Amino acid sequence: MSGKKRYLVTAALPYANGPLHIGHLAGAYLPADIYVRYLRLMSKDVVFVCGSDEHGAAITVRARKEGVTPREIVDKYHALIRDTFEKIGIAFDIYHRTSEQLHHETSQDFFRKLLENNQFSEEVTEQYYDEVAGQFLADRYIIGTCPVCANPDAYGDQCEKCGSSLSPTDLISPRSTLSGSAPVKRPTKHWFLRLDRHENWLREWINTGVADGHQLHNPADWKNHVLGQCNSWLDQGLHPRAMTRDLDWGVDVPQEIPDSAGKKLYVWLDAPIGYISATKQWAIDHGKKWEPYWKADDTALIHFIGKDNIVFHCLIFPAILKAHGDFILPVNVPANQFVNLEGRKISTSKNWAVWVHEYVADFPGQEDALRYNMIKKMPEQGDSEFTWKGFQETTNNELVNNLANFVNRVLVLTNNYYGGFVPAVDANHEFKSGWDIDKTGVYDEELHILHEKLEALGSEIERFNFREALRILMEISAAGNALLQFNEPWKMVKVDPEQVKVVINLGLQFVAALSVACQPFMPFTSKRLRGLINLNALDETRGELLFILNDLAEGNPVLPTGHAIGAAEHLFSRIPDEVIAAQIAKLEATDTAAANTTTTNTPAATMYAPLAPTITYDDFAKLDIRTGTILTAEKMEKSKKLLRLNVDLGFETRTILSGIAEHFTPEDVVGRQVVVLANLAPRVMMGVESQGMILMAENAEGKLSFVRPEEGWGNGFGVK
Ligand code: 2FM
Ligand code: ZN
Repeated sequence: MSGKKRYLVTAALPYANGPLHIGHLAGAYLPADIYVRYLRLMSKDVVFVCGSDEHGAAITVRARKEGVTPREIVDKYHALIRDTFEKIGIAFDIYHRTSEQLHHETSQDFFRKLLENNQFSEEVTEQYYDEVAGQFLADRYIIGTCPVCANPDAYGDQCEKCGSSLSPTDLISPRSTLSGSAPVKRPTKHWFLRLDRHENWLREWINTGVADGHQLHNPADWKNHVLGQCNSWLDQGLHPRAMTRDLDWGVDVPQEIPDSAGKKLYVWLDAPIGYISATKQWAIDHGKKWEPYWKADDTALIHFIGKDNIVFHCLIFPAILKAHGDFILPVNVPANQFVNLEGRKISTSKNWAVWVHEYVADFPGQEDALRYNMIKKMPEQGDSEFTWKGFQETTNNELVNNLANFVNRVLVLTNNYYGGFVPAVDANHEFKSGWDIDKTGVYDEELHILHEKLEALGSEIERFNFREALRILMEISAAGNALLQFNEPWKMVKVDPEQVKVVINLGLQFVAALSVACQPFMPFTSKRLRGLINLNALDETRGELLFILNDLAEGNPVLPTGHAIGAAEHLFSRIPDEVIAAQIAKLEATDTAAANTTTTNTPAATMYAPLAPTITYDDFAKLDIRTGTILTAEKMEKSKKLLRLNVDLGFETRTILSGIAEHFTPEDVVGRQVVVLANLAPRVMMGVESQGMILMAENAEGKLSFVRPEEGWGNGFGVK
C-alpha cells in the first residue's frame, strides 16, 4: 500500500461520440474499478472520478456524420455511456461532463494561471482555412494524399492506412471535408505551452521518481511500456505546443484576454482538467473539500488509461499541473495495452467490436461473466485477445464449474445436514486439506492459509497485477472444491460426523471470504453470494476486507458458529453453443463487406508467395531465434521505412533497425513482445548498427503483423 492518506483515482474520460466497447472496459475502467473497490474494502479514503469528454474534433466530426449538432451528440452518448458504466458495475463516485459550466470555469482558470505564470508563448502561424465554409479547419477536417503511402484519404493528423502521424501541411493536395474545396493558409494567433522548458524535470521525474528534490514515486513500480513510451517521446525533445484552436465547439479562451474571440482551449487543456472539475462537483454534492485530493502531498493520484493516452497523462498533463504550481503529480499511471477481437484490431468505424451496452442487453444478469473474462484477458503487459469461444469456455469451466459449483455444494450440504446453520466444530479434528491432498488439514491452519491468500490477492491489486489477483481468487474457490472432493462429506457424514462439521464449517468460511474478495472483480456476484449466506451487500459498507483479514489473523472464523444461511442457488449459468454462435454471426455480419473484398479480389493463386527451396534441419538450426520485448522506438531521421528499436532480449538489450515505419508508429510498437533473429550478422544502416532482425508476417495486401509468443512469455527464450 502506498502509505498515503487518501487516493484520487481517475479513469480516462471517454469521448461522448460513440458507445463503449470491451477494449475500453479492459483498458481503463475495469482496472480502475477493481483498484477502487479494493481500496474501499480496505477502508481507505478514495474518490473515483470520471466523466464524458465532450469537446474536440471527435465530437464535431461525429455530429457532421449524423447530421445533428454537437450538443445532440454529447447528450445522446453521455447518457448511453453513463448508463452502460452503471450496468456493468463501474462504481465511480461521480460521472461528470466537460460541457458543464463548472468545468469550463475550471479550465479557464487553469489557462489564466498558466498565462500569469508565463508558461505560454504567443505565436502567429499559418493554418488551413476553408473559404467556402468560412472557418479554420481542425486537423481531422482536412484530408489529402499521405506523403508516406500515397493513401488519397489520409487525415490531417494521421494516415489510417499506414499509421503515420501527420500534420495537415504534410498532406499532398489537401481538401476540406466541410466543403470539399482546397483550403488556403491564413495567419492566426495561438497560445503555445512551453513544453520545452519542462523536458528536463519530466525526464528526471519519469526515470527516477524525483521532482524538486523529493522522491515522489519509485519508477520500478511503473510499467515498462509506460516508461518506454515516455522516454521515446522525451528523446525526440519536447517542443512548444498550441493549447488553443480556432473552433466553435469547446471551452472559450477567457474573454478578457486580447485576441481571444473565436478561440477555444485545445483538449489538452480541457479533458484532463475534467478530472479536477469532476472532483469539485463531487465535493459540492457531498459537502467535502476537493483541494486535499489534488493538492496535498499525502494524496496518491493515480490515472488509469489505455496506451494511447500515455504521453498525455505522463508528460503533458503533469507539465500542465506543474506549470500551474499548486497541484500534485500522479504517483502511477498503470496504462494497459489493447484488446484484439477474434484475431483483429477492434475498430469502431468498421463495427468490429463487442459493444458493452449490447452485451448487457443480450446477457442480462451475466454482467460479471464479461467482467471476469475481460480481467482474465486484461492487456496488462502486452496486447491481448478476446474470442467468443474463449468467453464461453472461461465462463463454463471457471465460473460455473469452479466458483458456482463450490458455493452451491457448500450451501446445499449446510442446509441438508445442519438446517442451514454454521455448525460448531472441534478445531482439533483432522481432515484432508483442500490446498494439498497429501496434507492433513487442521482447522486453524486452513484459516491461516486463507488469510495468506487474501493478503497475496490484495498485494497483487496494489501492484496493478489484476490478472494474478483474479487467479488467486479462483485458487481459493478451487481449494474449496478440493476440500469437498478430498473429504467426501456425503460419504463421511455417517462415518465421522465431527469431521464433516469441520469441513463444512471451513467451506463456509471460504464462501464468506470469497463473497468479500470477489467484490472488486465481480460486484454483482458478491452481492448475490452475500445474499445467499445472509450477509449485507458490500456496496454501502467499507473496510470489510480489512475486518476479515484482522479476524483471520487472530484465528477467528469469518462466519460465526450458528449463523443462519439462506437457500442454495446457482451463481452462474452455462453459456450454450448457440448463444456463442449467434454472437459470432452478429460480429461477422457487420463485417461482410470487408470480408468479401478480401476474398473476391484476391484469387487464391496470387495470395501466397511461392515456397522457397527446401532446407535441411541443420540449415534451420543455425538460426538463433529469441523472444524479446520492444522497450523504446523512434523514427530514424531521413528514413521513411526504418524504426530504431531497443529490444530487451532478457540477457541483453539490442538496437535493431526495422523496416516497419510505414506500417507502425513508434507508439504502436513500444511494449510489444516480438520474435528476433538474434544471430544475424550486425549491419550498419544510415550510420547505426542494427543487431538483429524482428520477424514479421506479411499478408497478400502487404500488411505486416508482428510474430509474437504467447502473452506474458519471458524475454530471451529460444524459438524452435
Ligand atoms: O482518448 C480519449 O478517450 C480522450 N477522450 C481523452 C481521455 S483522457 C482525458 F480525459 F484526460
Ligand atoms: Zn499513409
